[in-house]
Amino acid sequence: MKKGIKIVTIGGGSSYTPELVEGFIKRYDELPIRELWLVDIPAGQEKLNIVGNLAKRMVEKAGLPIEVHLTLNRREALKNADFVTTQFRVGLLDARAKDERIPLKYNVIGQETNGPGGLFKGLRTIPVILDICKDIEELCPNAWLVNFTNPAGMVTEAVLRYSNIKKVVGLCNVPVGIKMQTATLLDVSPERVHIDFAGLNHMVFGLNVYVDGVSVLDEVIEKMTNPGNAMTMKNIKAIDWEPDFLRGLHAIPCPYHRYYYKTSEMLEDEMRAANEEGTRAEVVKQVEKELFELYKDPNLAIKPPQLEKRGGAYYSDAACNLINSIYNDKRDIQPVNTRNNGAIASIPDDSAVEVNCIITKDGPKPVSVGDLPVAVRGLVQQIKSFERVAAEAAVTGDYNTVLLAMTINPLVPSDKIGKQILDEMLEAHKEYLPQFFKAVEA
Ligand code: G6P
Repeated sequence: MKKGIKIVTIGGGSSYTPELVEGFIKRYDELPIRELWLVDIPAGQEKLNIVGNLAKRMVEKAGLPIEVHLTLNRREALKNADFVTTQFRVGLLDARAKDERIPLKYNVIGQETNGPGGLFKGLRTIPVILDICKDIEELCPNAWLVNFTNPAGMVTEAVLRYSNIKKVVGLCNVPVGIKMQTATLLDVSPERVHIDFAGLNHMVFGLNVYVDGVSVLDEVIEKMTNPGNAMTMKNIKAIDWEPDFLRGLHAIPCPYHRYYYKTSEMLEDEMRAANEEGTRAEVVKQVEKELFELYKDPNLAIKPPQLEKRGGAYYSDAACNLINSIYNDKRDIQPVNTRNNGAIASIPDDSAVEVNCIITKDGPKPVSVGDLPVAVRGLVQQIKSFERVAAEAAVTGDYNTVLLAMTINPLVPSDKIGKQILDEMLEAHKEYLPQFFKAVEA
């Protein structure tokens, strides 16, 4: 690896790519990237060209010898890669909009990574990531796969269970978002803040918070009880928590916990949004249009601040810090999705969890937390069961298994409603779910 790093980004035409490129540029002294390959599919060609050319201008402006390659040929790109990052969206934003709108017809949360929407995003994504894993095995067997593609927890679970790839890490910006917002609440610099993260992707808790090594959890919780101080991400409505609920929980919930602990308020707001400004995918489509117009400007050679309208703030920090720490064997602590290996007692050893890890050249080594507080343990286990059954359904294309996954999801009220949602969503996403239609059509 020391000759200079080759990075391949699948879904390179994403509007988030400038953030990643900025992250690599900032860290070039420690992370000497020689080649950055941005890969996309024919439907993404135009976006790839626009964002790829911006990436080239950014690198040129920084005066760095990084070659940026744009390609639709994934296999050509993967040859001898050191790191493969994945950030693709099967079915693009139109599929996400269906994930969000269809469940609402049944009075069920429609969300990208939670409930029926999360299930269907997983069903569309898992077969593709497993194909990518086969290519990695053949073309760059020593590479690290760094996955951002949502639902990142379920995807990491599927890779661990159904591929031969061991060097995989799932990443999310939620923990870093919580850390930054905690630092702001406490009015201290983020470097002084340490949070004990444990749980699953989009289901992670901050079990304790320290400033300079001293626990300040009580203070953070009290600050969070003040109106307007509830932490969130751009894509999740910042409805405040009940102060006494937070005190009882005595841990920091992640923004996505609102879908479970505030289901009716979130549903009500989603219904309102669907009738007014549109679902999140529909809003994001508009934001993307504006972003790509900006990216086209030949004089633009930086990441434009408008990218901050997206929910993925700090995602490149998570990705670049992880790659940097693996490459340089930094042994610092970062929250990532990896094989549990006993870090959380009530989750199986071989399942993916989101937990603080020591990041070494041999990958993340999870830091043991003992167990989760009893109040949240059951929900986390239930979501893990859902992710596992969903991953199995994505691989087998079995109807009974996918109905089981749908029904055990805590946001789905019954098997009957689950089946109605399932049937409508299977039909709506048919073109991206060949595994469920093969038998019928054969
Ligand atoms: C959050 C999540 C990401 C998700 C993003 C969506 O930050 O952690 O997993 O991809 O929001 O943001 P968007 O702007 O697409 O709604």
